[in-house]
Amino acid sequence: MKVKITEVGPRDGLQNEKVPVATKDKFEFIQLLIRAGLTNIEATSFVKKESIPQLADAAELSALLNWNGPVEFSALTPNTKGYEAAKNAGYKEVAVFTAASESFTKKNINRTIDESIQGFKEIFTLARQDGIRVRGYVSTVIDCPYEGKIDPKKVLEVSKILLDQGAYEISLGETIGTGVPTEVERLLELLLKEIPADKLAGHFHDTYGMAIANVEKAFSMGIRSFDSSAGGLGGCPYAKGAAGNLATDDLVYFLEKSGVPTGIDPGLLWEASSFMEKAIARELQSRTYLATKKKREA
Ligand code: HMG
Ligand code: MG
Repeated sequence: MKVKITEVGPRDGLQNEKVPVATKDKFEFIQLLIRAGLTNIEATSFVKKESIPQLADAAELSALLNWNGPVEFSALTPNTKGYEAAKNAGYKEVAVFTAASESFTKKNINRTIDESIQGFKEIFTLARQDGIRVRGYVSTVIDCPYEGKIDPKKVLEVSKILLDQGAYEISLGETIGTGVPTEVERLLELLLKEIPADKLAGHFHDTYGMAIANVEKAFSMGIRSFDSSAGGLGGCPYAKGAAGNLATDDLVYFLEKSGVPTGIDPGLLWEASSFMEKAIARELQSRTYLATKKKREA
């Protein structure tokens, strides 16, 4: 029973942080994550600097990474310009991102859903030639900050298009962390009629503390790939009120205690989270992280 954990702390975790984090600290954070046992790490985004100033050092950070080790690094690429930059930086995996809500897509990447998908065609073609894997994100799979409830049929439609274009996996973005397990169940019941479970990943945010319950529901329905961020860092600047991602600390605690090995050392993971907590100068929210902190301080 193998579970894939994609650590999105350096990207989703930091993209909304107001305090600028030095490139060397981002690199050190990634090193600590690797030391803890994370093997899939979303390191940064190749996007417009004005859109996400915190990640404007994508190329500089990527130049520091060890491309010959066992870790799979990936980066977000909204268009061909971003794709080319990621390829030149050494990435063997990139992620394209769109949503099931028109308003969110417009605010996030200044495109309609259809325009975004048309734009990705070139990325998929180039990636096939270049031997680069493409992951597809579909955001707002349950609720949208602008449109409210999202029809699962729209999630299915967009996911299928990205898979047909060549995405190896669809990460289902529960962008604002408002969803509950019954909603996850309703969504997955529909998706799993047409998409195999091993092509889907859960990307839950934890605004209402429902992320781990949503993982449990998705896991019980066969999903074995989850995104999370150390300490529960995170949030999307285009989704007001969205708190951090599901914390890797909580995910690892939940899986290990449920008898699912993760290969991640919780103590070393705690150190990675703690390092970033100091760098961003605000307290992290992960319950597991905080419980361990109290124990260590006692
Ligand atoms: P645009 O303004 O429509 O782009 O932005 P444009 O093509 O008109 O170009 C405008 C300028 O941007 C040009 O520069 C381009 O060169 C530059 P100028 O000529 O004016 O000097 N530009 C770029 N620069 C660097 N890298 C690029 C790039 N592309 C254009 N790749 C765009 C459209 C998509 C670029 C912009 O809206 C953008 O970068 N958006 C990124 C938003 C983002 O990163 N959001 C957060 C990630 S999504 C998320 O968090 C959700 C997720 O976690 C899942 C979930 O939780 O649901 C994944
Ligand atoms: Mg996210």
